[in-house]
Amino acid sequence: MCGIIGISSNKPVSANIVNSLKKLEYRGYDSAGIATLSNGKINEVKSEGRVDNLENNYDIKHLEGNIGIGHVRWATHGIPNSVNAHPHSSHNVSVVHNGIIENSTILKKHLINKGYKFKSQTDTEVIVHLITDYLKTSELVEAITKTLKQLHGSFALGIVFKDMPDLIVGARRGSPLAVGYGPNENYLGSDSYALKSMTNKITYLDDGEFCILKKDQVLFFNDEGKKVNKKILQLSSDESSYDKGDFKHFMAKEIEEQSITIKTGIKEYIDNFNKEINIFNFPWKLEDIKSITLIGCGTAYHSCMMAKYWFEELTSLDVSIDIASEFRYRKNRFKKDTLYIFVSQSGETADTYAALDLCNKNNMKTCSVVNVIESSIARDSNFVLPIHCGPEIGVASTKAFLGQILILYIFALKIGSLRNEVQNKLYQEKIKDLKTLPSLIEKTLLLDNDIQAISSTFNEAKGSMFLGRGYSYPIALEGALKLKELSYIHAEGYPAGEMKHGPLALIEEGMPVVVLAPKDSYYKKTISNMQEVIARGAKVLLITNKTNDDVISENIWETIEVENTNNDLLPFLLTIPLQKLAYYSALKKGYDIDKPRNLAKSVTVE
Ligand code: AGP
Repeated sequence: MCGIIGISSNKPVSANIVNSLKKLEYRGYDSAGIATLSNGKINEVKSEGRVDNLENNYDIKHLEGNIGIGHVRWATHGIPNSVNAHPHSSHNVSVVHNGIIENSTILKKHLINKGYKFKSQTDTEVIVHLITDYLKTSELVEAITKTLKQLHGSFALGIVFKDMPDLIVGARRGSPLAVGYGPNENYLGSDSYALKSMTNKITYLDDGEFCILKKDQVLFFNDEGKKVNKKILQLSSDESSYDKGDFKHFMAKEIEEQSITIKTGIKEYIDNFNKEINIFNFPWKLEDIKSITLIGCGTAYHSCMMAKYWFEELTSLDVSIDIASEFRYRKNRFKKDTLYIFVSQSGETADTYAALDLCNKNNMKTCSVVNVIESSIARDSNFVLPIHCGPEIGVASTKAFLGQILILYIFALKIGSLRNEVQNKLYQEKIKDLKTLPSLIEKTLLLDNDIQAISSTFNEAKGSMFLGRGYSYPIALEGALKLKELSYIHAEGYPAGEMKHGPLALIEEGMPVVVLAPKDSYYKKTISNMQEVIARGAKVLLITNKTNDDVISENIWETIEVENTNNDLLPFLLTIPLQKLAYYSALKKGYDIDKPRNLAKSVTVE
């Protein structure tokens, strides 16, 4: 939820820290700050709002010091203002923090009783005074070890010390933290994205570890303060993904590149020559898997919902799904013959990671479907299915959603084939259809002008509904989520068949309602539900697929027809107009599309 950067160098660091903070703003952007060390003092500057504000308020690029830390914040404790912005400093220690210290209230009382004065409402400030206190009687490693043992909850920390002006301490528990290696300088960052513009040599700290980082040396320690050795990873340097190119927003770029990312995903898993799906190094015998549980948050949870339909269609496995923040506290009955699949674009979502950790602690079979293969969820799963979408920068997930459901569909199809529940002829047909998906997406992406015009009606309404049955139901939820998170308008995704059990009361004259009704086995029923809302004054946007059948068109406000394909694949195409609807709605409102208010790209706190 927050972004951290630290640099120890043989030259001034403030400009590099500011540039890195701008790359980290997708993780949180309600306030920002930086602290450097020079001439025996801590130079701390911070302000509410974006990093640009920091630059406008201070001559930050000329802040002295060859060592410093920076932070962009997504508030968890204390309103977003300059006092609560990070870094937080005592006379000799300055700290930036991502995570939540769950026992901060008790620690604060203890430290106030010891005479420490608090300036902010944040949980982070207890860390500053704890370390300051321990340093009075302990050497650095011991003071850090003792401090971390006192903290309950999650943290990624960057810490500098007035009296040790050549080092930065980094520490990690539950929130990601990486070290980067450069020429005559080294870096600390919340993720590789922040560091990629400076290096592609990265080491990830694991939970409980901390490091002492100097410009020419990095030492790693475990939670007992004992030195540990860590691997240096060489990351791919696909800088182009981090650039909007000609697009106005990352989200627009990421919507438009879905035909490419889907093609990449298909290439990664489908062997064209042998007309086969390759899932390499699957660590379990199929006969040892009797059921599947899919777990995720937000859009990733909608991917789980979508996958449930496909696994049930293509295999005889029992399939359950759960929202990660519910799963982690449920009275779960863990079963050895269940495969637990964790879906997460970032691979750092706290609730999803906690659910994975719970399964690992119970020795369950764990598999993750992720976009960031160096992420914590990927690293701690028994088996990983990467979605190969390239970095997704827009907070609203688009190409990653299509990538997630693609890999889950391919996985379900493969499992069905291996269990002889999808006969080879059908298996080959489905693989053949799958290979047409990129070009179908390309055509569907052209549905642009109609949607731009339609989006105004959604902006003027006080709310809207998105309805679908069967395969279209998860897509209806995803479309509603996109509109909510981008245009801040209430929108509700609902099973079309459920409207008569209550929500029909919401329908009033002129209310926009999106009805997803491809000509599949649910079509007729969904059209009946559509008539029910039209009869009560709704303005229906019908999204269906192009076929020779006549579309029932009386009293429908607008109709959008996506390309036709086999029913399995229609969800991919139905999603695209909904992504664009949300995008154009937010564009017309003038909202920040890549960084919607109150949200963050990687939700690394509960
Ligand atoms: C999707 O548009 C949202 N930004 C959000 O719901 C997101 O899908 C959710 O936070 C899960 O993130 P993850 O896929 O990185 O775990």
